[in-house]
Amino acid sequence: MPQQDALYTLSTSKNIGKVILVGAGPGVPDLLTVKAMRLIQQADVIVYDRLVSDEIVAMFPPHSHLIFVGKEAGNHCVPQQQINSLLVEHALAGKQVIRLKGGDPFIFGRGGEELEALLPFNIPFEVVPGITAASGCAAYAGIPLTHRDHAQSVQFITGHLKQGQDQIDWPSLARSNHTLVFYMGLNQSHVIRHKLSAYGMSLATPIAIIERGTSSQQRVHTSDLAHLESLAKDAKSPALIVIGSVTTLTHSLNWFQAKQEAETQSYPKFYQYQAHQPTRKIS
Ligand SMILES: C[S@@+](CC[C@H](N)C(=O)[O-])C[C@H]1O[C@@H](n2cnc3c(N)ncnc32)[C@H](O)[C@@H]1O
Repeated sequence: MPQQDALYTLSTSKNIGKVILVGAGPGVPDLLTVKAMRLIQQADVIVYDRLVSDEIVAMFPPHSHLIFVGKEAGNHCVPQQQINSLLVEHALAGKQVIRLKGGDPFIFGRGGEELEALLPFNIPFEVVPGITAASGCAAYAGIPLTHRDHAQSVQFITGHLKQGQDQIDWPSLARSNHTLVFYMGLNQSHVIRHKLSAYGMSLATPIAIIERGTSSQQRVHTSDLAHLESLAKDAKSPALIVIGSVTTLTHSLNWFQAKQEAETQSYPKFYQYQAHQPTRKIS
C-alpha cells in the first residue's frame, strides 16, 4: 500500500475517482435501497464489512474488485487506518469505490471517520443511507419502537461500554415510557441490567433480544430486565437488545415468524397464517 506522502502526490492528479459510502441494511437484500443496488452494480471497487450478508455479496457484479475488511467482535481483521488508506488509494487511482457497511453507515458505523479521512485528499464522496438494524430488525420482529400506548421516544445506544468509564446518561435511560435499543450489547448485558436497575428501572421491565434480524435465522427472545444476562447468553450475534414495554407487542405482531412458519409448514398451518392477517378494507 502506498505511503501517505505518495497518496498526497497522487491527489493532485486530475483523474480522481469517488467514494460512495453505502448502507446495506440489516441483511436481507430486499432491504437494500434502489440507489444502493444501482451503485453497487456500477462499482469498480467494493470495500465491505462482515455485516454485509452473503446474499448481498452474491449480487456483487463480476467486474468489481472486492475487498473484505470484516471485523469480528474484538478481532479487527483490518485496522481502521488501513481501511481509510484503501479508500483513499483506490479513489486516487480513479476508481468508483463503494464502501458498503451493514445497516446505516452513520449509525455506529464509523462512516463519519472514513469520510473525514478523504478530506485532506479532496476526494469527492456521497452517502447512501441504509436501514439501520434497530429499524429493520424491530419491524421484522413485530416491535414498533414507538407506540402511543407504550413509548413516546426511542434511543439507540452502543453497548461498547467500559464499566465505570462510559459516558452514558443512565438516569435518563432508566425513565419510563420510552424504548432503548442497544447495539453490540450482548457482552455487556450485566452492565446494562445493573445500571438501569440501579437508576430506578423496574426489573420487571419487558425486554427482547433480536438475533440475526431480518434473516431466515431470525430469533426473537423475550423476557424481563431481571433475566437480561441469561437471555443474552443464549443469543447469537449479531443481536440487538430492546428494552421497554413495546417488546410485548411481538407476541401479537410477529408477522415475519408467522410467515416463515406458514411457508415451511403444511396447508392447514398456512391457512392459519392467513387468518392472522388484518382484514383488508375495500372502499
Ligand atoms: C458495528 S454495529 C453496526 C450498526 C449498523 N451500522 C446499523 O446501522 O445497523 C453492529 C451491531 O449492529 C447490530 N446488528 C446489525 N445487524 C443486525 C442484525 N441483522 N440483527 C441484529 N442485530 C444487528 C448488532 O448489535 C451488531 O453488534
